[in-house]
Amino acid sequence: MRTQVGIVGAGPAGLMLSHLLHQRGIDSVVIDLKTREDIEETIKAGVLEQGTTDLMNATGVGDRMRRDGFVHHGINLAFSGAIHRIDLYENSGGRAVTVYPQHEVLKDLIARRLADGGDIRFGISDTTVDGLTGDRPTISFVAEGQRQQLECDFVAGCDGSQTCTRFLMPEGTIRTDFFRQYPFAWFGILAEAPPSSDELIYAHSDRGFALISTRSPSVQRLYFQCDPATDPADWPDDRIWEEIAARVGTAGATIKTGKIFAKGVLQFRSYVCEPMQYGRLFLAGDAAHTVPPTGAKGLNLAIADVHVLDRALGAYYEARDTGLLEAYTQTVLKRVWRAQHFSWWMTSMLHRFAEATGFDLRRQIAELETITSSPSGSRLLAENYTGLPLT
Ligand code: PHB
Repeated sequence: MRTQVGIVGAGPAGLMLSHLLHQRGIDSVVIDLKTREDIEETIKAGVLEQGTTDLMNATGVGDRMRRDGFVHHGINLAFSGAIHRIDLYENSGGRAVTVYPQHEVLKDLIARRLADGGDIRFGISDTTVDGLTGDRPTISFVAEGQRQQLECDFVAGCDGSQTCTRFLMPEGTIRTDFFRQYPFAWFGILAEAPPSSDELIYAHSDRGFALISTRSPSVQRLYFQCDPATDPADWPDDRIWEEIAARVGTAGATIKTGKIFAKGVLQFRSYVCEPMQYGRLFLAGDAAHTVPPTGAKGLNLAIADVHVLDRALGAYYEARDTGLLEAYTQTVLKRVWRAQHFSWWMTSMLHRFAEATGFDLRRQIAELETITSSPSGSRLLAENYTGLPLT
């Protein structure tokens, strides 16, 4: 088999890259270890930046999102017994976010790729990649019991945080110090319940952080800060609802409870792989970087990466111009580090650190007051939350 771009991973980065390349007449094959059902059903992120929705609309994959997604013009910060709304729209020059689950984005991209004759191989195994420093790299994998060879011009490593492609880069070529582990995690639930709030609530409390998010009018996504070693089995439904109410209810929100049908613990890390390329290999999305979920940036960074990679590959195929490909890491990492800073900042402003003293808690409250009461503070948050424009 032969293609122009071999894409490892059918997540947001891999599928959007394949879709964008197709629109400029560049061929790709996408492979993934998971089955299509698994990819289309695994519940992950849910907040799309303005740039992500604009790109989906501009490239013809935004119909269901416009119909079923919810545009939010604000978010709430709850602290010191009150809820403070930040108007994202007013404070960002007319930008907003859309609540539309990641697995729905993936369904839309898969459906469109297949309708356009795209080649996606689900449920493959035993991937190896060779020849990255030459001009004919090869991806080898097993599909339906048969070993297949896929010869390509370029390999895109879009295989998420459990990446194998990042480890194709020889030791010594990657920085190893761009990593941070946080001393807490999020306990996340999905519940059959009506929304507790029209817009997301990020809550600071003496008991730790909580987040009220949503997936649809009948399914809600809620989180609360917990110890990374927390076992969901120790948390019966009643205890979860009590803990969330204790953290958010004091600010005046009424939490609408319901049947909890998924519980899980999400670890918190920040990581950046630099460089994001080696020979003919280009990494994109979680394969190259991880942010804590507090800023809702993970999925959006993946889309921003492949927006850059698509244009760089376009310049190569149109004019054999390698300039944008050579600059890929540098171009992409500017935005990645801005998102790293924003995610770290939101995390440190809202969470309770184990060693926190009275001083630290009051300092956080003062910071939240600055952000909610100063127009420049609100603008800083709104511009970053709705996302920097795709360049
Ligand atoms: C979510 O709905 O899963 C969600 C929303 C906002 C965040 C993180 C996660 O900051």
